[in-house]
Amino acid sequence: MTIKSEPLTEHTGSEIFVDREALISGALSPAIRELLVQRGVIIARGLHLTDDEQRAFTRTMGDLRLGTVKQEGEEGLQKVTFDEKVNPDYAKFFFGSLLWHMDGTYEEVPPFATILTPRVLSATGGQTEFTSNYATYEALPDDEKAWLDTLKVVHTMQAALFPGKPDCTVEEFALWHSYPNREHPLVWHHKTGRKSLVLSTSGSHVVGMHPAESHDLLQRLMAHATQPRFVYRHEWQMGDLLIWDNTGTMHRAMPYPADSGRQLHRFTLNGEEPVRGVA
Ligand SMILES: [Fe+2]
Repeated sequence: MTIKSEPLTEHTGSEIFVDREALISGALSPAIRELLVQRGVIIARGLHLTDDEQRAFTRTMGDLRLGTVKQEGEEGLQKVTFDEKVNPDYAKFFFGSLLWHMDGTYEEVPPFATILTPRVLSATGGQTEFTSNYATYEALPDDEKAWLDTLKVVHTMQAALFPGKPDCTVEEFALWHSYPNREHPLVWHHKTGRKSLVLSTSGSHVVGMHPAESHDLLQRLMAHATQPRFVYRHEWQMGDLLIWDNTGTMHRAMPYPADSGRQLHRFTLNGEEPVRGVA
């Protein structure tokens, strides 16, 4: 099975051109998964999926993350919004989505992929940007790749959130600090044999390295990985479907007015392999 597709940038993102019913049925999902891990991000325009259709498609792509079902019909659905009335559990953390990150770096097995559709768009801002952690790893010199293979990074909630809210309250900081940390290798050796950086704002420090050197290294890698030549910026249109491979990309939302009503509907696929470094 092949699907018609076109690259969106040299390194990241492809647009696919598919029949709506065939997509929802799952008939195209093996081909979409293959393209997804090659290109990091897949988009399709003009589909206008309902929540049920988006969930049905998600289930054909892998293991749907269920989370806590608050209301009937919302199984697996997360509403991405700044509005705490719409999403009382998570809206207060979404400011962190404006900083480059991978999702679930606190988990041994980070989520595989996320599937998004827009429900309300902001008149200004609110684009989503992606960079490929495979392509940015590949672009490094070989001697640096070999060195990075030896390093481990501690990921923390406070590292992920504090830069987005430096005027937080003591209570907010204490809440972030209460979440468990997770140590990951800096270079992920995937079961496919490919390698990618495990880079995210959640990366607090390199294990065993002087804090000043650790800060410089993580900042330098972040600057390298987010150069415009590696980045795809998605300009949202109603009807879009967007899928990203969370295990091989970073993402961030561009700022938008908190009262814009912007709302995206999100389903997440559970991870399928733990982050493993060099054997
Ligand atoms: Fe995210």
